[in-house]
Amino acid sequence: MPISHSRTVPEDAQGARSLVEALRVNGDRLWQTHLEIAKIGAIAGGGSNRLALTDDDRQARDLFVDWCREAGCTVRIDQMGNIFARRAGSDEHLPAVIAGSHLDTQPTGGIFDGVYGVLAALEVIRALNDAGVSTRHPIEAIVWSNEEGVRFSPAVIGSGVWAGAHDLADAHSRTDVDGVTFGQALADIGYLGDVACAPFPIRAAFEAHIEQGPILENAENTIGVVTAVQGIRWFDIILNGRSCHAGSTPMEVRRDPVMALATILDAVYRLAAEHAPNARVTVGRLNAEPGAYNTVPQRVVASLDLRHPDEATLEQLSAKVAEIVTACCASHDVDGQLRDELGHNPVAFDPISIEAVQAAADQLGYKSMRMVSGAAHDTMHVAQHAPAAMIFVPCEGGVSHHPDEMATAEDLEAGCNVLLHAMLRFAEPI
Ligand code: HGY
Ligand code: MN
Ligand code: MN
Repeated sequence: MPISHSRTVPEDAQGARSLVEALRVNGDRLWQTHLEIAKIGAIAGGGSNRLALTDDDRQARDLFVDWCREAGCTVRIDQMGNIFARRAGSDEHLPAVIAGSHLDTQPTGGIFDGVYGVLAALEVIRALNDAGVSTRHPIEAIVWSNEEGVRFSPAVIGSGVWAGAHDLADAHSRTDVDGVTFGQALADIGYLGDVACAPFPIRAAFEAHIEQGPILENAENTIGVVTAVQGIRWFDIILNGRSCHAGSTPMEVRRDPVMALATILDAVYRLAAEHAPNARVTVGRLNAEPGAYNTVPQRVVASLDLRHPDEATLEQLSAKVAEIVTACCASHDVDGQLRDELGHNPVAFDPISIEAVQAAADQLGYKSMRMVSGAAHDTMHVAQHAPAAMIFVPCEGGVSHHPDEMATAEDLEAGCNVLLHAMLRFAEPI
């Protein structure tokens, strides 16, 4: 159950109110740092391919760590390679106010997904430095490892181990398609830290992120005050039939796993349509073995990403998918398995943290709206151990996980100003 604040948001010191309220981030610098990071793992079309724990990821991490050290932060790395850059508070015993996201991308990703939340946290620190404003509570900018879960499955596993949702040894043993383990890849890039990957006292936690959908842009709003993240399930649909000759084997005698998969997917997409508009199903990865034009496959594996904002409905949909797999396998005489790969229930954020985001957006005069995140984020896990909320800004056409992903410098600056002022409501500037 996510953690909630025990007391109201503290008032800024009366005397410093106007100074603090006038604080703003440097939008040009924020934009420029995006362009700098985007050079690492750049792909044709203007996007990023910076898979977790690759040398590109290392270069982006190193650049971020350098920037944080230049900004006066101390940096620690934990056993999952999560990076914590700390701006000291006047009272180092107080719990930190944190903000962060991820630097790893999809294979054909954009330059803002995750990166924005990391760089916005850095920009908050830089803006406070520029203004000479100290805070009683320490402030930390964080990079969570392997949020996307592309090279190493599952997703959000860096924050997941930190939150206790995944076991460290199991996470380290996860392998990529070449059999390289997560732990070995961490060591190879020099980010296998020795700091325990476990929760520590946190005053408030925030994550700024592009929406990755069309809602804010369609509503002509600048800020999304994110109240929750929808639930997510990942499955592998594993079907085993019997390989045979593509030409000489009559259709009616085949035990073709792809024929079974075709009926399964037809039924699953119909299930999503019956639960429109909130149910989401995606088949992003397909593999048939032995993979020859002229041999009916022996085995086929399809990934299935299933999402819904309501926990009970997500459970029902998951059970229905299992029934569909069983029925379709029986009718095609193939052996089927629906293997669980990832499961996180919807997470509601902390009301007081949400109010701090709303108050910051209102104070800054930005048009805002409450919304539930369609995408998964590390803050789903952080919220299990700290009062947390998220801040969304629009992305053009709602496009994300695509090289065309685009946001305006103005919106990024606005979201970062909201992050700054939401964090200051808990960091106690002096
Ligand atoms: O899968 C997600 O929702 C996130 O973009 N990793
Ligand atoms: Mn992301
Ligand atoms: Mn993503």
